[in-house]
Amino acid sequence: MSYPLRRLRRLRTSEKIRQLVEETTLTPKDFICPVFVQEDLKTRLKVESMEEIERLPLDDVTDEIGTISDLGIPAVMLFGIPSQKDEEGSSAFDDKGIVQKAISQIRSNFGDKIVIMADVCLCQFTSTGHCGIIKENKIDNDTSLETLANIALSQAKAGVDTVSPSAMMDGQVSAIRKKLDDEGFTDVSIMSHSAKHRSNFYSPFRDAAECAPKFGDRKTYQVPYTNSREAMMEVETDVNEGVDIVMIKPALSYLDLIAETRRRFNLPVAAYSVSGEYALVKAASKLGYVNEKDIREEILYSIKRAGADMIVTYFAKEAARSLQES
Ligand code: PBG
Repeated sequence: MSYPLRRLRRLRTSEKIRQLVEETTLTPKDFICPVFVQEDLKTRLKVESMEEIERLPLDDVTDEIGTISDLGIPAVMLFGIPSQKDEEGSSAFDDKGIVQKAISQIRSNFGDKIVIMADVCLCQFTSTGHCGIIKENKIDNDTSLETLANIALSQAKAGVDTVSPSAMMDGQVSAIRKKLDDEGFTDVSIMSHSAKHRSNFYSPFRDAAECAPKFGDRKTYQVPYTNSREAMMEVETDVNEGVDIVMIKPALSYLDLIAETRRRFNLPVAAYSVSGEYALVKAASKLGYVNEKDIREEILYSIKRAGADMIVTYFAKEAARSLQES
């Protein structure tokens, strides 16, 4: 028998019944918290375009990780800002580099109480600000692969759990996997920025991490935001190269791709809610146009609803705090 009126409002009548039928959950366990560490920095430095985000001196890292871990957040993503940059980005694979020092400090103070993830890229470390090595005026894919593998190896030696290549060079996952395996680091996992788009949402990050390209743009390596089949090819390629976690980046304008990746693949899916997504909410809430907490939760829930298992987000600490309170 078919009813004339399907009363969907019946299951919305009380807070408890609404809780019972809730399809998506959000907890601090879903978050990966980005952390910026700068070499030779004396005191914390505010990032102008990203309210409440700071670059940390090495000495503050243990404190910060303690705060993050106490909030129930299981993982951090480290980004380093070196004192010296050169064409090869050599401070990125220096065993005494800033990221490597941060990793070993966290490992010795926290053991396996927090998952240590680190960005594997070159743009913070190259004088060109590009994510690969330049040869004959072009970003040379295969030369860059060797360097990216060496960065991952030096992070593995320092004690990283998960390396996270974000350079968008073809073959970066297999180059890194091979190097790690050859050197005995079979347990170090790879969370690749599989489909990282050529996005305009990264500009506050470039301020945070000093990694804007000195010339040109990233169009020859990042995925165009017009192409979803190409994005799926990127994910598929990483899966075939042995990646452990795939990532879609940015998140909010790319929910379709998160959903599609969830449907097509069985590996864990991460979403990176990037600096521009964060800055927009912060700016609008500062002007009093939106309620920050409500908007933040709606955005994070929607990323989970689309199919992400975990979210890299600059809201990690604030969101964890308010989720713990509610
Ligand atoms: C660089 C890198 C970028 C981000 C993460 N890693 C910037 C870029 O590609 O220009 C952006 C993250 C964010 O905006 O939060 N490899």
